Amino acid sequence: MSNTILELRKEIKEPNEVKELKIKKYRFSNLVGKSPNFKAVLNIARKAANSSASVFIYGETGTGKELIAQSIHFDGTRQNKPFLAQNCAALPETLLESILFGTAKGGFTGAVDRAGLFEQANGGTLLLDEINSMPYELQGKLLRVLQEDYIRRVGGSKDIPIDVRIIATVNEPTEALIKQGKLRKDLYYRIKIIPIDVPPLRERREDILILAEQFIDKHNKRYNKNIWMLSDKAKEKLLSYNYPGNVRELENIIMAAISIIDDENVLTDKHILIDDANNTVKIDYEFLELGVEKYLENLEKEIIKNTLNTYQYNITKSAEHLKIKRQTLQHKIKKYNLHS
Ligand SMILES: Nc1ncnc2c1ncn2[C@@H]1O[C@H](COP(=O)(O)OP(=O)(O)OP(=O)(O)O)[C@@H](O)[C@H]1O
Ligand SMILES: [Mg+2]
Repeated sequence: MSNTILELRKEIKEPNEVKELKIKKYRFSNLVGKSPNFKAVLNIARKAANSSASVFIYGETGTGKELIAQSIHFDGTRQNKPFLAQNCAALPETLLESILFGTAKGGFTGAVDRAGLFEQANGGTLLLDEINSMPYELQGKLLRVLQEDYIRRVGGSKDIPIDVRIIATVNEPTEALIKQGKLRKDLYYRIKIIPIDVPPLRERREDILILAEQFIDKHNKRYNKNIWMLSDKAKEKLLSYNYPGNVRELENIIMAAISIIDDENVLTDKHILIDDANNTVKIDYEFLELGVEKYLENLEKEIIKNTLNTYQYNITKSAEHLKIKRQTLQHKIKKYNLHS
């Protein structure tokens, strides 16, 4: 299986007639964002591009880790050398090991001489995605390789010198990963020569609308639409969401909006299908000035009123829906003066 995977990768890397199948290359010019904390990330990443030091990127899912890793390579000193990526969560241990380090004939039954990703990426960059999913023992082997600058193919006896820049990513906080024994501390310290923490989108709200506009531009053509702008309410809706899926989720929301829009030119809040159940409770801070107790009472009153209306003041059904006793409901109706 490792042979097949390496063969297929080679075809992608060295396309003959299939040049257009080449993976899209991202550069810094593709990265959108003007918030101070995202600018700080870009600053470090640009510096990283000018060196060969290894980079450790932490960020929640969808924050743009892959884009940043690619930008560091394709705008960096190694841009004319290969960029290869491997997701460490995708493969079982022995397979991952042969993919990374290659195999030597006779090493095990059926093994052939084949270069692994380290050799193929020589002179260039190897992105190790979700490195915390790499089995612990293999993390130890990787550390040795990084310290000694040579690899040995699985089953082989020759030391092969390599010059590969490593970029590793994790999407959970590093400290927790180390504590849980998912990431070797020594490996982490070896790789995080340049550490980059990508902030989640909810911590850089200034970027939401410029990203949204960029995605409208990007997908307008694709869907053959002609959207000029976002309505004020659409902006408000986009700004008030907390994006657990980060930039990728924002892009999906915009794509969905564009795909349902007719021949209108303004993208409004009704096109934006945000799953509010996923969102945190939206607190109206103006109302909270009454104090939390009064605020909660008002909220409860509102919920009960709506439920009673929905069930046409049928007490049994309303109480069932609210998951409270009939008596309790009757008591609250009296308290809030909600009689029909
Ligand atoms: N700063 C940005 N500017 C423009 N587009 C972005 C930016 N950040 C992320 N994106 C968009 O979000 C998508 C997800 O980004 P990316 O694949 O780099 O995330 P990731 O951090 O690697 O996520 P995962 O942890 O799930 O692998 C990209 O395809 C891109 O379209
Ligand atoms: Mg990724």
